[in-house]
Amino acid sequence: METKKILIEDREHIEDALLIEAAQILREGGLVAFPTETVYGLGGNALDEKASEKIYAAKGRPSDNPLIAHVSCIEEVEPLVSRIPEAGRRLMEAYWPGPLTLIFPKSKQVPYATTGGLETVAIRMPSDPVAQRLIALAGVPVAAPSANTSGRPSPTTAQHVWDDLAGRIDMIIDGGPVGIGLESTIIDVSGPVPTVLRPGAVTMEMLEDTLGKVAIDPAILGPMAEGERPKAPGMKYKHYAPKADLTLVEPSGTQTDAMTAEVRRLALEAGKAGRRVGIICTDESRQCYADVAGALIRSIGSRREPSSVAHNLYRVLREFDDLEADCIFSESFPQDHLGQAIMNRLSKAAAYHIVRV
Ligand code: TXA
Ligand code: MG
Repeated sequence: METKKILIEDREHIEDALLIEAAQILREGGLVAFPTETVYGLGGNALDEKASEKIYAAKGRPSDNPLIAHVSCIEEVEPLVSRIPEAGRRLMEAYWPGPLTLIFPKSKQVPYATTGGLETVAIRMPSDPVAQRLIALAGVPVAAPSANTSGRPSPTTAQHVWDDLAGRIDMIIDGGPVGIGLESTIIDVSGPVPTVLRPGAVTMEMLEDTLGKVAIDPAILGPMAEGERPKAPGMKYKHYAPKADLTLVEPSGTQTDAMTAEVRRLALEAGKAGRRVGIICTDESRQCYADVAGALIRSIGSRREPSSVAHNLYRVLREFDDLEADCIFSESFPQDHLGQAIMNRLSKAAAYHIVRV
């Protein structure tokens, strides 16, 4: 299949003419990748079983892993759900449009092919102007997982999508690099206690501000024990995996000196053993590794600006794939606010291989 590419140069004044063909592809059951404020999504009509099946096939994703239905306004939620719990209403008012996905009890309209067989449906209203306009023009809810091959880091540029999915989907809309760089926060409001299933840019602290106490699925905090199941089926897979073995080094307190010393020691040791070594550092620590000969050193952003770390994380992991690193050693980040989402993705990419110093 030939994959068409469309470039949106002026994101503030989007001409509908540029998106009409994409909207039509979606309505007719085809697949279109598009930018959102979190990561690029691979869109298909959420009410069309066949479109959902095509999404799973293009990504190589297991079909028990449900998709998020994207809407362009709150009114579009009602037909997709059997009820809107009070907590859900408050969160939609506070954080939509934006990087927050809500899990509701589903209505009959939403096919099981989209929800991975579940009685609930995940819904999100993105704030990205291209995504908003595309969904509105399509006139249908748009099921969209991250537009990567299953198991690869999520795409934060149209080029990442092209690298993974060219020839497998109908169209890619290039709206430039995304803003946030990590997938949306997911919160389940279908049960008695609102429960966070995936941390993101709408942080735990923000959710507690709006709702009071919220629960957190144990799958976010560490590896699952034998027989345990995460509530978001997608969290059980080794996700966001770079090709190299990734090891995280975590300090016990707030001091970063022992951490950078250990990253340096591990990198030197692996280099001596003949391995192609990568280091994930920050703008503040780059010079700590200046003498690690031969290492591929990439800053992920500034410790003073966690949003820069979130923004660069997947891009840096993909870069190490291209550079064919054998092993990567990475610094860690404090787990509050956006740091919880950053560490959740890094820990999963490292398959929870964490060295504590
Ligand atoms: O930021 C995002 O959310 C991006 C952009 C494109 O919007 N999308 C995204 O989709 O990250 P995906 O498919 O890569 O991740 C969706 C996650 C999966 O872990 C899935 O298991 C979970 O949401 N999920 C979807 N529906 C669910 C449901 N009904 N109950 C529990 N978890 C659900
Ligand atoms: Mg994904």
